Amino acid sequence: MPAIVLVGAQWGDEGKGKATDLLGDRVDYVVKFNGGNNAGHTVVVGDEKYALHLLPSGILSPGVVPIIANGVVVDIAVLFEELDALAARGVDVSRLRVSANAHVITHYHRTLDKVTERFLGKRQIGTTGRGIGPTYADKINRVGIRIQDLFDENILRQKIEGALHQKNHLLVKIYNRRAITVDEIMDDLLQYVERLRPMVDDTALVLHRALDEGKTVLFEAGQATMLDVDHGTYPFVTSSSATSGGAATGSGVAPNRFERVIGVVKAYTTRVGAGPFPTELFDESGDFLREHGGEFGTTTGRPRRCGWYDAPIARYSARINGVTDFVLTKLDVLTGLETIPVCVAYEVDGERVDEMPVSQSDFHHAKPIYEEFPGWSEDITGARSFEDLPKNAQDYVIALERMSGSRISAIGVGPGRDAIVVRHDLID
Ligand code: GDP
Ligand code: IMO
Ligand code: MG
Repeated sequence: MPAIVLVGAQWGDEGKGKATDLLGDRVDYVVKFNGGNNAGHTVVVGDEKYALHLLPSGILSPGVVPIIANGVVVDIAVLFEELDALAARGVDVSRLRVSANAHVITHYHRTLDKVTERFLGKRQIGTTGRGIGPTYADKINRVGIRIQDLFDENILRQKIEGALHQKNHLLVKIYNRRAITVDEIMDDLLQYVERLRPMVDDTALVLHRALDEGKTVLFEAGQATMLDVDHGTYPFVTSSSATSGGAATGSGVAPNRFERVIGVVKAYTTRVGAGPFPTELFDESGDFLREHGGEFGTTTGRPRRCGWYDAPIARYSARINGVTDFVLTKLDVLTGLETIPVCVAYEVDGERVDEMPVSQSDFHHAKPIYEEFPGWSEDITGARSFEDLPKNAQDYVIALERMSGSRISAIGVGPGRDAIVVRHDLID
Protein backbone atom coordinates (compact mmCIF):
# COMPACT_ATOMS: atom_id res chain seq x y z
CA MET A 1 0.00 0.00 0.00
CA PRO A 2 1.99 3.05 -1.15
CA ALA A 3 0.29 6.41 -0.44
CA ILE A 4 -2.69 6.79 1.86
CA VAL A 5 -4.49 10.04 2.65
CA LEU A 6 -6.33 10.66 5.89
CA VAL A 7 -8.79 13.57 5.94
CA GLY A 8 -11.41 15.06 8.21
CA ALA A 9 -14.91 14.56 6.82
CA GLN A 10 -16.74 17.24 8.83
CA TRP A 11 -15.58 20.56 10.38
CA GLY A 12 -12.42 19.31 12.05
CA ASP A 13 -11.57 17.63 15.35
CA GLU A 14 -12.96 14.30 14.17
CA GLY A 15 -10.08 12.43 15.79
CA LYS A 16 -7.59 12.48 12.91
CA GLY A 17 -4.71 12.43 15.40
CA LYS A 18 -5.91 9.24 16.99
CA ALA A 19 -6.63 7.63 13.61
CA THR A 20 -3.13 8.49 12.41
CA ASP A 21 -1.67 7.10 15.59
CA LEU A 22 -3.61 3.89 15.02
CA LEU A 23 -1.78 3.38 11.72
CA GLY A 24 1.52 4.73 13.01
CA ASP A 25 3.49 1.56 13.53
CA ARG A 26 2.70 0.34 9.99
CA VAL A 27 3.69 3.56 8.29
CA ASP A 28 7.18 4.65 7.23
CA TYR A 29 6.50 8.34 6.49
CA VAL A 30 3.81 10.70 7.70
CA VAL A 31 3.23 13.93 5.82
CA LYS A 32 1.48 17.12 6.83
CA PHE A 33 0.46 18.77 3.57
CA ASN A 34 -1.84 21.66 4.51
CA GLY A 35 -2.54 24.18 7.25
CA GLY A 36 -0.24 25.02 10.11
CA ASN A 37 -0.52 25.38 13.84
CA ASN A 38 -4.25 26.08 13.56
CA ALA A 39 -4.62 22.29 13.84
CA GLY A 40 -4.92 20.63 17.22
CA HIS A 41 -4.64 16.87 17.42
CA THR A 42 -4.86 15.08 20.73
CA VAL A 43 -3.29 11.66 20.93
CA VAL A 44 -3.60 9.57 24.07
CA VAL A 45 -0.99 6.84 24.56
CA GLY A 46 -1.47 4.99 27.84
CA ASP A 47 -1.39 7.65 30.56
CA GLU A 48 0.33 10.16 28.29
CA LYS A 49 -1.61 12.82 26.41
CA TYR A 50 0.00 14.71 23.53
CA ALA A 51 -1.37 17.82 21.79
CA LEU A 52 0.12 18.36 18.34
CA HIS A 53 -0.37 21.47 16.26
CA LEU A 54 2.21 22.01 13.56
CA LEU A 55 3.79 18.59 13.57
CA PRO A 56 1.99 15.60 12.06
CA SER A 57 0.60 13.24 14.72
CA GLY A 58 2.57 10.39 13.21
CA ILE A 59 5.72 11.84 14.80
CA LEU A 60 4.74 9.92 17.94
CA SER A 61 5.30 6.57 16.27
CA PRO A 62 8.90 5.36 16.67
CA GLY A 63 10.73 4.97 13.37
CA VAL A 64 8.36 7.11 11.30
CA VAL A 65 9.85 9.92 9.20
CA PRO A 66 7.69 13.03 9.73
CA ILE A 67 7.49 15.48 6.84
CA ILE A 68 6.25 19.06 6.71
CA ALA A 69 5.51 19.44 3.03
CA ASN A 70 5.26 22.45 0.73
CA GLY A 71 1.54 23.03 1.32
CA VAL A 72 2.05 23.83 4.99
CA VAL A 73 2.52 27.28 6.53
CA VAL A 74 5.19 27.19 9.20
CA ASP A 75 5.50 29.31 12.33
CA ILE A 76 9.14 28.54 13.05
CA ALA A 77 9.02 29.47 16.75
CA VAL A 78 6.11 27.07 17.19
CA LEU A 79 7.97 24.38 15.25
CA PHE A 80 10.90 24.46 17.65
CA GLU A 81 8.70 24.77 20.74
CA GLU A 82 6.80 21.66 19.70
CA LEU A 83 9.94 19.74 18.81
CA ASP A 84 11.55 20.64 22.15
CA ALA A 85 8.45 19.73 24.15
CA LEU A 86 8.24 16.32 22.45
CA ALA A 87 11.97 15.67 22.78
CA ALA A 88 11.73 16.49 26.51
CA ARG A 89 9.13 13.74 26.78
CA GLY A 90 11.39 11.22 25.09
CA VAL A 91 9.95 11.36 21.54
CA ASP A 92 12.58 10.97 18.82
CA VAL A 93 12.09 13.99 16.56
CA SER A 94 15.41 13.77 14.75
CA ARG A 95 14.02 12.52 11.44
CA LEU A 96 11.83 15.54 10.65
CA ARG A 97 12.17 16.92 7.10
CA VAL A 98 10.79 20.34 6.18
CA SER A 99 10.07 21.44 2.62
CA ALA A 100 12.17 24.31 1.28
CA ASN A 101 9.00 25.55 -0.42
CA ALA A 102 6.74 25.74 2.64
CA HIS A 103 5.69 29.28 3.49
CA VAL A 104 6.62 31.05 6.70
CA ILE A 105 4.18 32.65 9.13
CA THR A 106 5.64 35.89 10.46
CA HIS A 107 4.67 38.38 13.13
CA TYR A 108 2.81 40.54 10.58
CA HIS A 109 0.67 37.59 9.49
CA ARG A 110 -0.40 36.89 13.06
CA THR A 111 -1.11 40.57 13.64
CA LEU A 112 -3.13 40.89 10.44
CA ASP A 113 -5.12 37.76 11.29
CA LYS A 114 -6.18 39.26 14.60
CA VAL A 115 -6.90 42.80 13.42
CA THR A 116 -8.85 41.64 10.38
CA GLU A 117 -11.06 39.50 12.58
CA ARG A 118 -11.66 42.38 14.95
CA PHE A 119 -12.50 44.61 12.01
CA LEU A 120 -15.03 42.12 10.65
CA GLY A 121 -17.04 42.44 13.87
CA LYS A 122 -20.22 40.38 13.60
CA ARG A 123 -19.07 38.88 10.31
CA GLN A 124 -15.88 37.43 11.80
CA ILE A 125 -14.81 33.88 10.96
CA GLY A 126 -13.55 32.95 14.39
CA THR A 127 -10.07 32.06 13.16
CA THR A 128 -7.49 30.53 15.46
CA GLY A 129 -5.49 33.78 15.24
CA ARG A 130 -2.34 31.94 14.18
CA GLY A 131 -1.78 33.97 10.99
CA ILE A 132 -2.91 31.18 8.68
CA GLY A 133 -5.17 33.19 6.32
CA PRO A 134 -2.78 36.13 5.78
CA THR A 135 0.15 33.75 5.12
CA TYR A 136 -1.77 31.82 2.45
CA ALA A 137 -3.02 35.13 1.03
CA ASP A 138 0.59 36.25 0.61
CA LYS A 139 1.48 32.91 -1.01
CA ILE A 140 -1.27 33.29 -3.60
CA ASN A 141 -0.44 36.98 -3.98
CA ARG A 142 3.20 36.02 -4.65
CA VAL A 143 4.58 38.08 -1.79
CA GLY A 144 5.13 35.23 0.65
CA ILE A 145 8.34 34.18 2.41
CA ARG A 146 9.43 30.59 1.86
CA ILE A 147 11.62 28.49 4.13
CA GLN A 148 14.40 28.58 1.51
CA ASP A 149 14.43 32.40 1.60
CA LEU A 150 15.85 32.24 5.12
CA PHE A 151 19.12 30.95 3.73
CA ASP A 152 19.78 34.05 1.61
CA GLU A 153 19.78 37.21 3.73
CA ASN A 154 19.64 39.56 0.73
CA ILE A 155 16.65 37.87 -0.80
CA LEU A 156 14.96 37.61 2.58
CA ARG A 157 15.38 41.32 3.24
CA GLN A 158 14.05 42.26 -0.20
CA LYS A 159 11.02 40.05 0.22
CA ILE A 160 10.21 41.30 3.70
CA GLU A 161 10.62 44.89 2.54
CA GLY A 162 8.21 44.22 -0.32
CA ALA A 163 5.66 42.59 1.93
CA LEU A 164 5.87 45.20 4.68
CA HIS A 165 5.66 48.11 2.30
CA GLN A 166 2.09 47.10 1.56
CA LYS A 167 1.19 45.82 5.01
CA ASN A 168 2.38 48.78 7.01
CA HIS A 169 -0.01 50.99 5.04
CA LEU A 170 -2.80 48.68 6.05
CA LEU A 171 -1.71 48.34 9.66
CA VAL A 172 -1.15 52.06 10.22
CA LYS A 173 -3.79 53.72 8.07
CA ILE A 174 -6.65 51.26 8.30
CA TYR A 175 -6.12 49.31 11.49
CA ASN A 176 -4.49 52.04 13.56
CA ARG A 177 -1.56 49.85 14.60
CA ARG A 178 2.14 50.61 14.70
CA ALA A 179 4.31 49.92 11.67
CA ILE A 180 6.45 46.77 11.79
CA THR A 181 10.10 47.16 10.84
CA VAL A 182 12.04 44.99 8.42
CA ASP A 183 14.75 44.46 11.03
CA GLU A 184 12.31 43.10 13.59
CA ILE A 185 11.18 40.43 11.17
CA MET A 186 14.71 39.72 9.93
CA ASP A 187 16.00 39.26 13.50
CA ASP A 188 13.06 37.11 14.40
CA LEU A 189 13.54 34.75 11.46
CA LEU A 190 17.31 34.65 11.25
CA GLN A 191 17.72 33.36 14.80
CA TYR A 192 16.40 29.98 13.60
CA VAL A 193 18.48 29.59 10.47
CA GLU A 194 21.25 27.31 11.72
CA ARG A 195 18.88 25.02 13.58
CA LEU A 196 16.55 24.82 10.64
CA ARG A 197 19.12 24.25 7.91
CA PRO A 198 19.74 20.51 8.39
CA MET A 199 16.01 19.75 8.39
CA VAL A 200 15.27 21.43 5.08
CA ASP A 201 14.92 19.26 2.02
CA ASP A 202 13.27 18.67 -1.33
CA THR A 203 10.50 16.76 0.40
CA ALA A 204 8.73 15.90 -2.88
CA LEU A 205 11.88 14.06 -3.98
CA VAL A 206 12.20 12.37 -0.58
CA LEU A 207 8.63 11.11 -0.93
CA HIS A 208 9.06 9.95 -4.53
CA ARG A 209 12.07 7.90 -3.52
CA ALA A 210 10.27 6.46 -0.53
CA LEU A 211 7.30 5.41 -2.67
CA ASP A 212 9.60 3.92 -5.30
CA GLU A 213 11.19 1.81 -2.57
CA GLY A 214 7.75 0.50 -1.60
CA LYS A 215 7.51 2.45 1.65
CA THR A 216 4.13 3.28 3.15
CA VAL A 217 3.39 7.00 3.28
CA LEU A 218 0.48 8.47 5.19
CA PHE A 219 -0.69 11.99 4.32
CA GLU A 220 -2.40 13.49 7.33
CA ALA A 221 -4.73 16.42 6.65
CA GLY A 222 -5.26 19.22 9.10
CA GLN A 223 -8.74 20.78 9.32
CA ALA A 224 -11.44 19.09 7.26
CA THR A 225 -13.56 18.92 4.13
CA MET A 226 -16.13 21.48 5.30
CA LEU A 227 -13.29 23.86 6.17
CA ASP A 228 -11.54 23.40 2.80
CA VAL A 229 -11.08 26.70 0.97
CA ASP A 230 -12.71 25.31 -2.21
CA HIS A 231 -15.13 22.69 -0.95
CA GLY A 232 -16.09 23.95 2.49
CA THR A 233 -18.62 26.50 3.71
CA TYR A 234 -16.79 29.49 2.21
CA PRO A 235 -16.00 32.07 3.59
CA PHE A 236 -16.30 30.25 6.93
CA VAL A 237 -13.35 28.01 6.12
CA THR A 238 -9.63 27.84 6.61
CA SER A 239 -7.35 29.02 3.81
CA SER A 240 -5.89 25.72 2.64
CA SER A 241 -6.87 22.59 0.71
CA ALA A 242 -7.80 20.16 3.45
CA THR A 243 -9.30 17.55 1.11
CA SER A 244 -7.53 14.61 -0.51
CA GLY A 245 -6.67 16.62 -3.64
CA GLY A 246 -4.64 18.91 -1.41
CA ALA A 247 -2.38 15.98 -0.56
CA ALA A 248 -1.09 16.00 -4.15
CA THR A 249 -0.54 19.74 -4.58
CA GLY A 250 0.53 20.13 -0.98
CA SER A 251 3.29 17.54 -1.25
CA GLY A 252 4.33 17.18 -4.88
CA VAL A 253 3.22 13.55 -5.00
CA ALA A 254 1.12 12.86 -8.10
CA PRO A 255 -2.54 11.83 -7.77
CA ASN A 256 -2.02 8.42 -9.37
CA ARG A 257 0.14 7.30 -6.46
CA PHE A 258 -2.65 7.53 -3.90
CA GLU A 259 -4.40 4.26 -3.30
CA ARG A 260 -6.57 4.81 -0.32
CA VAL A 261 -8.44 7.68 1.27
CA ILE A 262 -9.46 7.40 4.88
CA GLY A 263 -12.20 9.80 6.00
CA VAL A 264 -12.42 10.43 9.72
CA VAL A 265 -15.95 11.21 10.87
CA LYS A 266 -17.40 11.70 14.33
CA ALA A 267 -20.54 9.82 15.39
CA TYR A 268 -22.06 13.30 15.80
CA THR A 269 -20.89 16.72 14.54
CA THR A 270 -18.88 19.62 16.00
CA ARG A 271 -17.66 22.92 14.69
CA VAL A 272 -15.38 25.63 16.11
CA GLY A 273 -15.75 29.21 14.90
CA ALA A 274 -18.51 30.78 12.83
CA GLY A 275 -20.47 29.49 9.84
CA PRO A 276 -23.47 27.37 8.94
CA PHE A 277 -24.10 24.14 10.82
CA PRO A 278 -27.59 22.73 10.18
CA THR A 279 -27.67 20.09 12.92
CA GLU A 280 -26.32 22.39 15.65
CA LEU A 281 -28.03 21.92 19.02
CA PHE A 282 -28.75 24.77 21.42
CA ASP A 283 -30.43 22.69 24.12
CA GLU A 284 -29.35 20.15 26.72
CA SER A 285 -28.59 17.58 24.01
CA GLY A 286 -25.82 19.89 22.80
CA ASP A 287 -24.53 20.22 26.36
CA PHE A 288 -24.63 16.42 26.69
CA LEU A 289 -22.40 15.99 23.60
CA ARG A 290 -20.02 18.78 24.69
CA GLU A 291 -19.64 17.40 28.22
CA HIS A 292 -19.45 13.70 27.35
CA GLY A 293 -17.27 14.29 24.30
CA GLY A 294 -14.95 16.81 26.00
CA GLU A 295 -15.66 19.15 23.09
CA PHE A 296 -13.34 22.02 23.89
CA GLY A 297 -10.71 23.08 21.35
CA THR A 298 -7.19 21.61 21.53
CA THR A 299 -5.74 24.80 20.01
CA THR A 300 -7.81 27.63 21.46
CA GLY A 301 -9.75 25.95 24.29
CA ARG A 302 -13.01 27.31 22.83
CA PRO A 303 -16.16 25.25 23.53
CA ARG A 304 -17.08 23.47 20.31
CA ARG A 305 -20.53 23.84 18.80
CA CYS A 306 -22.20 20.42 18.89
CA GLY A 307 -24.93 18.73 16.84
CA TRP A 308 -26.18 15.42 15.48
CA TYR A 309 -24.60 13.40 12.67
CA ASP A 310 -25.24 14.87 9.25
CA ALA A 311 -25.36 12.16 6.57
CA PRO A 312 -25.49 14.50 3.51
CA ILE A 313 -22.21 16.02 4.73
CA ALA A 314 -20.62 12.60 5.12
CA ARG A 315 -21.76 11.69 1.59
CA TYR A 316 -20.44 14.98 0.25
CA SER A 317 -17.08 14.33 1.90
CA ALA A 318 -17.02 10.79 0.57
CA ARG A 319 -17.45 12.17 -2.96
CA ILE A 320 -15.06 15.13 -2.73
CA ASN A 321 -12.27 13.05 -1.19
CA GLY A 322 -12.93 9.67 -2.79
CA VAL A 323 -13.19 8.14 0.67
CA THR A 324 -12.51 4.40 0.55
CA ASP A 325 -12.84 3.85 4.31
CA PHE A 326 -14.38 5.83 7.11
CA VAL A 327 -13.07 5.78 10.65
CA LEU A 328 -16.10 6.56 12.81
CA THR A 329 -14.94 8.11 16.08
CA LYS A 330 -16.46 8.84 19.49
CA LEU A 331 -19.31 6.33 19.29
CA ASP A 332 -18.89 5.95 23.08
CA VAL A 333 -19.93 9.57 23.59
CA LEU A 334 -23.49 8.70 22.49
CA THR A 335 -23.88 6.06 25.23
CA GLY A 336 -26.79 6.89 27.52
CA LEU A 337 -28.96 8.66 24.95
CA GLU A 338 -32.44 7.18 24.60
CA THR A 339 -32.73 8.01 20.94
CA ILE A 340 -30.16 9.37 18.51
CA PRO A 341 -31.35 11.62 15.69
CA VAL A 342 -29.44 11.53 12.40
CA CYS A 343 -29.88 14.14 9.70
CA VAL A 344 -30.78 12.29 6.49
CA ALA A 345 -31.68 15.28 4.30
CA TYR A 346 -32.55 18.99 4.60
CA GLU A 347 -35.62 21.06 4.14
CA VAL A 348 -34.95 24.22 2.20
CA ASP A 349 -37.86 26.62 1.62
CA GLY A 350 -40.35 23.81 2.13
CA GLU A 351 -38.60 21.42 -0.29
CA ARG A 352 -36.68 18.28 0.61
CA VAL A 353 -33.03 18.43 -0.47
CA ASP A 354 -31.07 15.17 -0.23
CA GLU A 355 -27.57 16.47 -0.90
CA MET A 356 -25.56 19.56 0.04
CA PRO A 357 -27.48 22.50 -1.46
CA VAL A 358 -25.79 24.20 -4.41
CA SER A 359 -26.23 27.65 -2.90
CA GLN A 360 -24.53 28.50 0.34
CA SER A 361 -27.49 30.70 1.35
CA ASP A 362 -29.72 27.64 1.16
CA PHE A 363 -27.29 25.77 3.39
CA HIS A 364 -27.40 28.63 5.91
CA HIS A 365 -31.11 28.16 6.46
CA ALA A 366 -31.37 24.41 5.68
CA LYS A 367 -33.39 22.59 8.34
CA PRO A 368 -32.33 19.05 9.10
CA ILE A 369 -34.77 16.22 8.46
CA TYR A 370 -34.07 13.65 11.15
CA GLU A 371 -34.46 9.91 11.40
CA GLU A 372 -34.31 8.62 14.96
CA PHE A 373 -32.35 5.58 16.08
CA PRO A 374 -32.71 3.79 19.43
CA GLY A 375 -29.75 4.39 21.77
CA TRP A 376 -27.94 2.09 24.20
CA SER A 377 -26.89 2.39 27.81
CA GLU A 378 -24.14 -0.23 28.04
CA ASP A 379 -20.55 0.99 28.44
CA ILE A 380 -18.90 0.31 25.07
CA THR A 381 -15.41 1.59 25.83
CA GLY A 382 -14.14 -1.98 26.25
CA ALA A 383 -15.52 -3.22 22.91
CA ARG A 384 -12.78 -4.53 20.62
CA SER A 385 -14.87 -6.32 18.00
CA PHE A 386 -18.07 -5.32 16.26
CA GLU A 387 -19.91 -8.15 18.03
CA ASP A 388 -18.93 -6.65 21.41
CA LEU A 389 -21.14 -3.63 20.66
CA PRO A 390 -24.78 -3.64 21.81
CA LYS A 391 -27.25 -4.38 19.01
CA ASN A 392 -28.50 -0.77 18.89
CA ALA A 393 -24.94 0.55 18.55
CA GLN A 394 -24.27 -1.94 15.74
CA ASP A 395 -27.48 -0.86 14.02
CA TYR A 396 -26.52 2.82 14.38
CA VAL A 397 -23.14 2.15 12.71
CA ILE A 398 -24.73 0.12 9.93
CA ALA A 399 -27.30 2.85 9.33
CA LEU A 400 -24.58 5.52 9.09
CA GLU A 401 -22.60 3.30 6.75
CA ARG A 402 -25.63 2.90 4.47
CA MET A 403 -26.16 6.69 4.37
CA SER A 404 -22.60 7.94 4.21
CA GLY A 405 -21.26 6.73 0.91
CA SER A 406 -18.44 4.46 2.05
CA ARG A 407 -17.77 1.58 4.39
CA ILE A 408 -17.00 2.21 8.05
CA SER A 409 -13.81 0.28 8.65
CA ALA A 410 -12.96 1.27 12.21
CA ILE A 411 -14.95 2.60 15.16
CA GLY A 412 -13.53 4.65 18.02
CA VAL A 413 -14.92 3.75 21.43
CA GLY A 414 -12.67 5.89 23.65
CA PRO A 415 -9.73 8.31 23.47
CA GLY A 416 -7.01 5.71 24.19
CA ARG A 417 -4.82 4.16 21.52
CA ASP A 418 -6.43 0.71 21.84
CA ALA A 419 -10.05 1.89 22.23
CA ILE A 420 -10.96 0.94 18.69
CA VAL A 421 -13.00 -1.67 16.85
CA VAL A 422 -11.46 -2.59 13.50
CA ARG A 423 -13.85 -4.10 10.93
CA HIS A 424 -11.63 -3.88 7.85
CA ASP A 425 -7.87 -3.46 7.77
CA LEU A 426 -7.00 0.14 6.83
CA ILE A 427 -3.63 -0.79 5.36
CA ASP A 428 -3.39 -4.02 3.38
P1 GDP B 1 -8.28 16.03 15.30
O1 GDP B 1 -8.04 17.50 15.23
O2 GDP B 1 -9.13 15.51 14.20
O3 GDP B 1 -7.01 15.24 15.46
O4 GDP B 1 -9.14 15.79 16.64
P2 GDP B 1 -8.91 16.46 18.08
O5 GDP B 1 -7.75 15.78 18.72
O6 GDP B 1 -8.91 17.93 17.98
O7 GDP B 1 -10.26 16.07 18.80
C1 GDP B 1 -10.65 14.75 18.98
C2 GDP B 1 -10.74 14.46 20.49
O8 GDP B 1 -11.46 13.26 20.68
C3 GDP B 1 -9.40 14.22 21.16
O9 GDP B 1 -9.47 14.72 22.47
C4 GDP B 1 -9.24 12.71 21.16
O10 GDP B 1 -8.45 12.24 22.24
C5 GDP B 1 -10.65 12.27 21.34
N1 GDP B 1 -11.02 11.00 20.70
C6 GDP B 1 -10.61 10.51 19.49
N2 GDP B 1 -11.28 9.37 19.21
C7 GDP B 1 -12.13 9.14 20.25
C8 GDP B 1 -13.11 8.15 20.54
O11 GDP B 1 -13.34 7.23 19.77
N3 GDP B 1 -13.80 8.29 21.71
C9 GDP B 1 -13.60 9.32 22.57
N4 GDP B 1 -14.32 9.37 23.69
N5 GDP B 1 -12.67 10.27 22.34
C10 GDP B 1 -11.96 10.19 21.18
P1 IMO C 1 -7.99 20.25 13.27
O1 IMO C 1 -6.85 19.87 12.37
C1 IMO C 1 -11.50 22.77 13.85
C2 IMO C 1 -11.43 26.73 11.99
C3 IMO C 1 -11.38 27.94 12.88
C4 IMO C 1 -12.13 28.95 12.05
C5 IMO C 1 -11.70 28.60 10.63
C6 IMO C 1 -10.57 29.47 10.09
O2 IMO C 1 -7.68 20.20 14.72
O3 IMO C 1 -9.24 19.53 12.90
P2 IMO C 1 -7.95 29.58 10.59
O4 IMO C 1 -7.22 29.92 11.85
O5 IMO C 1 -7.61 28.26 10.02
O6 IMO C 1 -7.87 30.68 9.56
O7 IMO C 1 -9.51 29.54 11.05
O8 IMO C 1 -11.28 27.25 10.67
N1 IMO C 1 -10.36 25.73 12.20
C7 IMO C 1 -10.56 24.55 12.79
N2 IMO C 1 -11.64 24.01 13.37
N3 IMO C 1 -10.37 22.04 13.77
C8 IMO C 1 -9.28 22.56 13.17
O9 IMO C 1 -8.16 21.83 12.96
C9 IMO C 1 -9.32 23.88 12.69
N4 IMO C 1 -8.43 24.67 12.07
C10 IMO C 1 -9.08 25.79 11.78
O10 IMO C 1 -12.01 27.69 14.11
O11 IMO C 1 -13.51 28.72 12.14
MG1 MG D 1 -8.36 19.20 16.34
